[in-house]
Amino acid sequence: MTLLIAFALVCVAAADLQGGLNPGRPRWPRLPEGVKPMDDSKIVGGATTTIDKFPYQVAMYKDGNFICGGELIRTNVVLTAAHCVHRYENSPSRFEIRVGSTTYSGGTRHRVSRVNKHSSYNSYTTDYDVATMILSSSVSINTYTQLVTMASGGSSYSGYTGTVSGWGTTSEDGNISRNLRYVNVAIMSNVQCADVLGSGVITNRMMCAGYPDGGKDACQGDSGGPLVINHSMSNPSNSVLVGIVSWGYGCARPQSPGIYSRVTVLRGWIDAYS
Ligand SMILES: *[C@@H]1O[C@H](CO)[C@@H](O)[C@H](O)[C@H]1NC(C)=O
Ligand SMILES: *[C@@H]1O[C@H](CO)[C@@H](O)[C@H](O)[C@H]1NC(C)=O
Repeated sequence: MTLLIAFALVCVAAADLQGGLNPGRPRWPRLPEGVKPMDDSKIVGGATTTIDKFPYQVAMYKDGNFICGGELIRTNVVLTAAHCVHRYENSPSRFEIRVGSTTYSGGTRHRVSRVNKHSSYNSYTTDYDVATMILSSSVSINTYTQLVTMASGGSSYSGYTGTVSGWGTTSEDGNISRNLRYVNVAIMSNVQCADVLGSGVITNRMMCAGYPDGGKDACQGDSGGPLVINHSMSNPSNSVLVGIVSWGYGCARPQSPGIYSRVTVLRGWIDAYS
């Protein structure tokens, strides 16, 4: 019942946002200096958590500003979204990765020595929205810093509950969150998603998750972050990465699921560029 009440309140808030779907744009973060975000992306309708529950979550900075999330897939490799690095893939020194912190500004800092953006990434359709960042130094594995297992195989994960985390905004025009947040979202099939969003928008490299009434979603600043299944607060190593926060029409709107890069389909590329 508590869940339903909280959900209803969020829906009221979401209903205040003026309708009409925006063109699809990557979930750009809101920048800390108050620069107008190019797009919509943070955790809406979720709860705060701590990094030991999501030890694979990292924060990405560009030119000293927090811009995106990411996840550790090797001790020296971070997986993220292509739109987080787009146009700067040849300038790895402008990026910095922070690991092991509940707040996006803390933790251990690591320089980036190489950025690999998928060569088929399309900034208009947001197709192939995947990139890897090679760190200059390997992270130390401990309670607060761990690798995430990536999904493989042919499952669509339709019907699974996914868990998405990040420091993104808690509403479409909100500020980024100081503490890490997470929310559970229902993964749907690409056929169901196309029924909601229209055909021709959702490619095989994407997956959708959300609820018909909205209210729970990733938002600005969550881009590049993890969507996992089998998440367990007591045993985060059970988590299996199935998606990367990519884009959406606003955040948490009714009939507008969040869209993620589909890890199983992109797995060959990820392994080759790790
Ligand atoms: C965002 O942060 C600014 C500066 O701290 C504050 O003035 C503003 O009220 C905040 N906006 C929201 C929606 O919380
Ligand atoms: C998720 O957990 C269930 C139950 O423990 C297990 O059977 C299943 O294999 C797990 N899924 C993946 C992809 O590891």
